[in-house]
Amino acid sequence: MDLNLADKVMIVTGGASGIGEAIVKRLAEEGAIPVIVDRNRDAAEMLQKALHSNGLKIHLIARELDSSECCQLTVDEILEKAGRIDGLFNNAGTNDSVSLEKGLPEQFVHSLQQNLHHYYFMAQACLPELKRNMGVIINISSKTAVTGQGGTSGYAASKGAQLALTREWAVELLKYGIRVNAIVPSEVMTPQYESWLGQNFDNPQEKRKSIEKRIPLGHRFTTPEEIADTAVFLASPRVGHITGQHIYVDGGYVHLDRALRS
Ligand SMILES: NC(=O)c1ccc[n+]([C@@H]2O[C@H](COP(=O)([O-])OP(=O)(O)OC[C@H]3O[C@@H](n4cnc5c(N)ncnc54)[C@H](O)[C@@H]3O)[C@@H](O)[C@H]2O)c1
Repeated sequence: MDLNLADKVMIVTGGASGIGEAIVKRLAEEGAIPVIVDRNRDAAEMLQKALHSNGLKIHLIARELDSSECCQLTVDEILEKAGRIDGLFNNAGTNDSVSLEKGLPEQFVHSLQQNLHHYYFMAQACLPELKRNMGVIINISSKTAVTGQGGTSGYAASKGAQLALTREWAVELLKYGIRVNAIVPSEVMTPQYESWLGQNFDNPQEKRKSIEKRIPLGHRFTTPEEIADTAVFLASPRVGHITGQHIYVDGGYVHLDRALRS
């Protein structure tokens, strides 16, 4: 199926690694023009080089997304480079373990800034272009929004807000034909996940196996490519009548019978 994404300019925040990287690759393969926005310049440049060497189009802005001003500057620079914006994948985020019991108020606020604020700032800065091009927004949230995790209040609050904003923006932007949807991943093996396992468990391999056992479909982690395939599909004009949805790409982790986990 042709997803009709050729030459569509699509921003992917956090596009240098993990789920974002997989979205960038899939978009490029579909003939779209992905724009990586990521603070990790080295990783972003490596990915850009790899895609260029395969003859694929891609732009990059190496930047930390930490204020409305820098998000506006990012969008202005993308318009200079690419001339238009058709879609925004809000994806950059870090599970930063700011707990209720031990977290400091300023750490909680910083976590919201790292995980939530730029979702709003980027959407707002892109809006004139999304209106012009009947664009799309895909918000990458997390199961922690609905299940909790424990010990990560700022991240969980951000992920919950992203689901609420998906519905809110879908309603507000109906009049422009802009579709807004969210993906809810649970357990996806990415560099961030690997380092979380390494930092928090004496035996990361054993922990990995115990988590896999609890994932109903196939007893395995979701791959970044499976998240990317769903996200890119949702961005396609072929999916013209889906908006305001929270799509769980999680092998049944959140909703299927708990008895399956034993
Ligand atoms: N991996 C999982 O199991 C999982 C589960 C649920 C949700 N998610 C969500 O998926 C998204 C991607 O996570 P991942 O596992 O691929 O992580 P990752 O660390 O592998 O990749 C995230 C990328 O985002 C960039 N980034 C993060 N914050 C940034 C900021 N403020 N400004 C600029 N760049 C920034 C990082 O440099 C990195 O390249 C996140 O929103 C995360 O919450 C992941």
